[in-house]
Amino acid sequence: MKLAILGAGDVGRSVADLAGEYGHDVVALADSTTATVDDDGIDIAGALERKAGDEALGSSEPDDVFDADYDVLVEATPTTLDDAEPGFSHVTRALEADRHVVLANKGPVAERYEELRALEADSAGSIRFEATVGGAIPVLSTIEDSTPQAVTAARGVLNGTANFILTRMAAEGLDYEHVLAEAQDLGVAEADPTFDVDGTDAALKFVILANVLADGGFSLEDATVEGIQNIPGSALDLAAEDGRTIRLIGEATRDGVRVGPRLVPENGPLAVTGTRNIVQIETRNAGSLHSSGRGAGGPETATAVLSDVGRLPPL
Ligand code: HSE
Repeated sequence: MKLAILGAGDVGRSVADLAGEYGHDVVALADSTTATVDDDGIDIAGALERKAGDEALGSSEPDDVFDADYDVLVEATPTTLDDAEPGFSHVTRALEADRHVVLANKGPVAERYEELRALEADSAGSIRFEATVGGAIPVLSTIEDSTPQAVTAARGVLNGTANFILTRMAAEGLDYEHVLAEAQDLGVAEADPTFDVDGTDAALKFVILANVLADGGFSLEDATVEGIQNIPGSALDLAAEDGRTIRLIGEATRDGVRVGPRLVPENGPLAVTGTRNIVQIETRNAGSLHSSGRGAGGPETATAVLSDVGRLPPL
């Protein structure tokens, strides 16, 4: 497939780096505000180098990405809430041009799911968005393989930053502010880590799961969300005395979405450590399926993007 990548952060750049391994060509790469284009398409290597040097990618507009001869738009611009712009317009433009879209940007799928599906229904292209939930962990493809109707719930840990902070707090007895900077250094925290610690990022992922299970109907405002900001280190000490710990747990069903700190057994499956994520999928006829792994990071999320690209039909 020929990929046009919008968003040149960790994820977009990793997709550009890894696409060749999967047999795909990158024909365009732009960040949210600028792009590099040459006569043959995009100067990817130069763009990556300039980005690494913290300079602008170039002087062209992101619109140039849409002029490229591409099969799949990879939408990896930062997640935005409410109208999910500019991501939603990028997706619209590609679908209206009968191209496929693979999203790493959670905004359009969480906030405007029904509109996305309506656009897809009128397009020769399809949308896929495995990278929006749990990074490298195959969550949505597992639900797809089980068929969404046979899945009753999805629950687990879907924010690596909050999980890392809780793990470090338990180990050191520190409050969350003390370990937040460490989490940012690891490169998994959102640009604004408020969304990681206040539960918004996890809630967006569980809203996406609820939309997949129910074929739409949910947005962030339907979720009940509590973060980890008010958990003192002493709460984790107390929980440990009882063989338990605290994790930011979310749950999505066809009835709604809840995210908040919960006590879980210290040696149980939900007590993943560090930046790991875990998802439990409850099925109607086959019990519970668990997947755990790296839920964030450039190459991890790019792996999910590229597996989505591999599942797309030829145009
Ligand atoms: N910031 C997120 C996390 C990764 O910490 O898990 C991107 O969704």
